[in-house]
Amino acid sequence: MSAELATVSYIGATILFILSLGGLSNQTTALRGNLYGMIGMTLAVLATVFGPKVTMAGIPWIVVAMLIGAGIGIYAARTVQMTQMPELVALMHSMVGLAAMLVGFATFIDPEASKGFEGAAKSIHEIEIYVGIFIGAVTFAGSVIAFGKLSGRIGGSPVLLPGRHWLNLAGLLIVIYFGREFMNAHDVATGTMPLIVMTVVALLFGVHMVMAIGGADMPVVVSMLNSYSGWAAAATGFMLSNDLLIVVGALVGSSGAILSYIMCNAMNRSFISVIAGGFGTASAAPKSSGDAAQPVGEAVPINALETAELLREAKNVIIVPGYGMAVAQAQHTVFEITKFLREKGVNVRFGIHPVAGRMPGHMNVLLAEAKVPYDIVFEMDELNDDFPDTDVSMVIGANDIVNPSAQDDPSSPIAGMPVLEVWKAKTSIVMKRSMASGYAGVDNPLFYKENNRMLFGDAKKMLDEVLTALKA
Ligand code: TAP
Repeated sequence: MSAELATVSYIGATILFILSLGGLSNQTTALRGNLYGMIGMTLAVLATVFGPKVTMAGIPWIVVAMLIGAGIGIYAARTVQMTQMPELVALMHSMVGLAAMLVGFATFIDPEASKGFEGAAKSIHEIEIYVGIFIGAVTFAGSVIAFGKLSGRIGGSPVLLPGRHWLNLAGLLIVIYFGREFMNAHDVATGTMPLIVMTVVALLFGVHMVMAIGGADMPVVVSMLNSYSGWAAAATGFMLSNDLLIVVGALVGSSGAILSYIMCNAMNRSFISVIAGGFGTASAAPKSSGDAAQPVGEAVPINALETAELLREAKNVIIVPGYGMAVAQAQHTVFEITKFLREKGVNVRFGIHPVAGRMPGHMNVLLAEAKVPYDIVFEMDELNDDFPDTDVSMVIGANDIVNPSAQDDPSSPIAGMPVLEVWKAKTSIVMKRSMASGYAGVDNPLFYKENNRMLFGDAKKMLDEVLTALKA
């Protein structure tokens, strides 16, 4: 393929990626967005593999690597449970970081890759390598820890080292000092040492950054690592002088940054303090319920029959799904119940919290899979004011996102986080297996409110029973 054709293909792929992002911003166009992304990526891979920078001798290596990668990818995508999706995404982010690191080292060691760089161009090339490896190492280590936390292999509570901000500052100074050493090195042998020291510091920084974040703040980390993986890809693009990788990396990096901003708003955290590493302050501090006020009152259980009765008599129902709905895979039964009630003239709507579940858009994906119409799915802000006029609010496997202590208890680890005010409905029903706390590990006073009822059991099983009772 000629250089001109490769450039045209890259421009085509860039346009398709932009259209893909645009499509993914809306549920009705998401499918189309995915399709654009797939076509764009195929075009990008073909233009790169058959482009002017790859020799014929290199193609068998690429094909073998692609077959191994595709094999692992297909296996992972086919076997992963929906609830493990966030972990898989974290693992994929770590791969982008690892790739940026390896490409950085390879570019530095390979004399061919540095050929033709003199004076200022050589310095810029070295900065690209140094910064690229740094971003890659932070992304890699941070994502591996995020994977551990999301999969429960590492505890959710924040690990706050004494003087951790000073540790971070010391790490930054070491990185700058060795950056100078690296730039002054005249050959690969002398430049390798500073590069390795910086990589170790960057890896430790990535581990430290994510370890210091408490359970409830994980959504912000997930979207931040998403953004970092984009910047790592852009850095790889600079190292390889690949324009498409730079543009695509920047698209992912900036859209991830926008998502982080939205997540920060949802969690009521300041974006600046997040990007400056201001985690682990008051709100992310130890999440045991020890300091927070203990809920008072008694939780009143209810059974499926009584739940069906309440739903049948209701005119307005709001369903709030959470992580437990994903665990139980109850979305299809939720839709069956919704369909039944709507046919009986009940106004059923869904309230989606921005951090419900374990990844951005988690609930929307599940509800779309179950074919719940988009026009009855609302964001938290769109229907939080409607709870007082609601007969029944039905909480399905959600906990933190409906916890009133976020509003009432300043000592709560989730204080300040906006929540769905389900307790303002005439009756709220919480469907979960036990009185256990949610991801943030805090007690939920909602369970003890006078107008609240607890429907204990696996969400899928209980909803099946409710549906049978409704139809009876
Ligand atoms: P959680 O607060 O985690 O509560 C989920 C509840 O579901 C649990 O209390 C659990 O109670 C129940 N549950 C689990 N399996 C169930 C089953 N089979 N049937 C019925 N109930 C079941 O979830 P949420 O309300 O969706 O809030 C999300 C939390 O995750 C927030 O703290 C958020 O910060 C965090 N987080 C979010 C993200 C993103 S990006 N969305 C990423 C990382 C972390 P039982 O054990 O008693 O059943």
